[in-house]
Amino acid sequence: MTDSTARPILIFDSGVGGLSVLAEIRALLPHAPLIYAADNAWHPYGPRTEAEIAARVPALLGRLTERFRPCVVVIACNTAATIALSHVRAALDLPIVGTVPAIKPAGLASKSRVIGVLGTQATVRQPYVDRLVAEFASDCTVLRLGSAELVRIAEEKLRGHAPDLNDIKKIMEGLYDQPEGQSIDQIVLACTHFPLLRDEIATVSPPGVTLVDSGAGIARRTAFLTQDIVWPGARSAGRAIFTLSNDDVELLAPALTGYGLTEIDYL
Ligand code: DGL
Repeated sequence: MTDSTARPILIFDSGVGGLSVLAEIRALLPHAPLIYAADNAWHPYGPRTEAEIAARVPALLGRLTERFRPCVVVIACNTAATIALSHVRAALDLPIVGTVPAIKPAGLASKSRVIGVLGTQATVRQPYVDRLVAEFASDCTVLRLGSAELVRIAEEKLRGHAPDLNDIKKIMEGLYDQPEGQSIDQIVLACTHFPLLRDEIATVSPPGVTLVDSGAGIARRTAFLTQDIVWPGARSAGRAIFTLSNDDVELLAPALTGYGLTEIDYL
């Protein structure tokens, strides 16, 4: 039996980065109705303060869940999750999956015991990240880099502007040029925008560097939490919801369609 009234999975990010997580969820749960919400009114989150994000994200997710009645909320944003996950869980009475940096798999896989963590400025300074390092990579040198520029390049790529590899190379030197940086063998893509630039980051990285992200793990967790739900038989059109209506959103329409998000709406 299928159910055409199944509640959607709500996937949330500040911008387009969460599409990298949506793609993994779509691959595992092809018939699940998906709502993708981007807080373009407040994007980018990386340069914001903890207090701003801790207040904004639960309030916004409250409005979104009231309107769309999701069965589960996926915070597809490391910045929002490392700062506001506990606030969101306290505020909403439904399962919340938070995307946090994939330091555990990187720590397990690293042979050189030098790991890079590439996120937003806000994410890389979070105590949440310190705790992940202490638990899963305590014997590793963990080099961190926060880059708003890389977020901007990923946003531009989805608006049809091909990234300039020289720009990405310069940004990545911020990791490789740190003491011990040449020994990095695992880089945690600790911002959901960065898997959208995986090929470009790999191209400017030394051979032998592996790029690790949380997307597949988030999809598995989402599938586990929704295992009792009977999804509709046919693939439903996904919807993209933005917090601010402007002409810029139209530039994203082709990329959104590529991710199965054929309807655009505003909160
Ligand atoms: N995609 C977001 C993350 O995973 C943040 C990008 C931003 O808004 O700065 O951290």
